[in-house]
Amino acid sequence: STQIFRDVPPLRQYRRSLLLSNRTVGLVPTMGALHEGHLSLVRQAAQENSDVFISVYVNPTQFGLNEDLDSYPQTWDADMAMLSTLDAELARTHGSGRISAVFAPTTKTMYPTLPPDSSLPGRGSFVTITPVGSLLEGASRPVFFRGVATVCMKLFNICTPDRVYFGQKDVQQTVVIRRMVRDFHLDTEVRIGPTRREPDGLAMSSRNVYLGARRRAVATVLSQALRRAEEQYVKGKRSRGDILWPANEHADRVAAEQEELVPGKRARFEVDYISLADPDTMEEIEEVDERRGAILSGAIKM
Ligand code: PAJ
Repeated sequence: STQIFRDVPPLRQYRRSLLLSNRTVGLVPTMGALHEGHLSLVRQAAQENSDVFISVYVNPTQFGLNEDLDSYPQTWDADMAMLSTLDAELARTHGSGRISAVFAPTTKTMYPTLPPDSSLPGRGSFVTITPVGSLLEGASRPVFFRGVATVCMKLFNICTPDRVYFGQKDVQQTVVIRRMVRDFHLDTEVRIGPTRREPDGLAMSSRNVYLGARRRAVATVLSQALRRAEEQYVKGKRSRGDILWPANEHADRVAAEQEELVPGKRARFEVDYISLADPDTMEEIEEVDERRGAILSGAIKM
């Protein structure tokens, strides 16, 4: 059965016991409020390791001052119920690993020397990955990737996982983590799972509960725009303009439709970015080199 750890020393001791019996650990870092996107990473980790560790920790240093740290959904009991159902399913699956540990630390444990309330730069130890951490998501949220890289470095040092699992939904995060693992010679393998979506195309996210019905319905504009760009690539288009124009056109049209509705009936949004970028640097590219590949991603603000 799954053990819950709140402190580092007992988790380290448990990790050592697994190492001595030649078991392998796959770590799935999360901020809780679990959904099928998280669970699919846990399933993948259980296929590839004898033991799965899941961390549940809302990391304050990756939230900006005006962001949703205080309102971020916390659903601990439902999370544990989902993991216990999934672990029972894994127990019946031949050759599958099991969920051995949930690591749910406090901020005092994760940031032992950081004064409370100091998520902002200036004091303490942080990991920065530049310039990839300053582009795209990092442009609107300057401390975000510094916080993500820092907490992941800590989690990797605490759990010493053989493999770590991240979702493609947060594709720039996967690029930052891959880069950190490479640059710091971290002895772990980065594994990426596909984006899990609602039936209408919206990517599953713990934050989707913030959307009211009207905004929830309009939010599919992003996945639709990205699909349009993808279609161009599948048709053989390789230049930035040819790939991105139908995505931008779709987003602009849906935005204009919303503007025409009366206040109270519309769900306004702004395109933050639609990006076609190099897979290692996240720098914008003019042409897709097939052997190198590219990352198509986007964000809208509602
Ligand atoms: P969180 O948003 O809880 O996501 C945890 C992991 O689940 C991430 O790797 C994320 O990409 C993945 N994930 C979320 N929604 C997904 C979906 N619809 N399909 C597939 N995977 C999905 O990302 C974070 O937490 C934090 O930044 C963290 C890495 C835990 C560091 O604090």
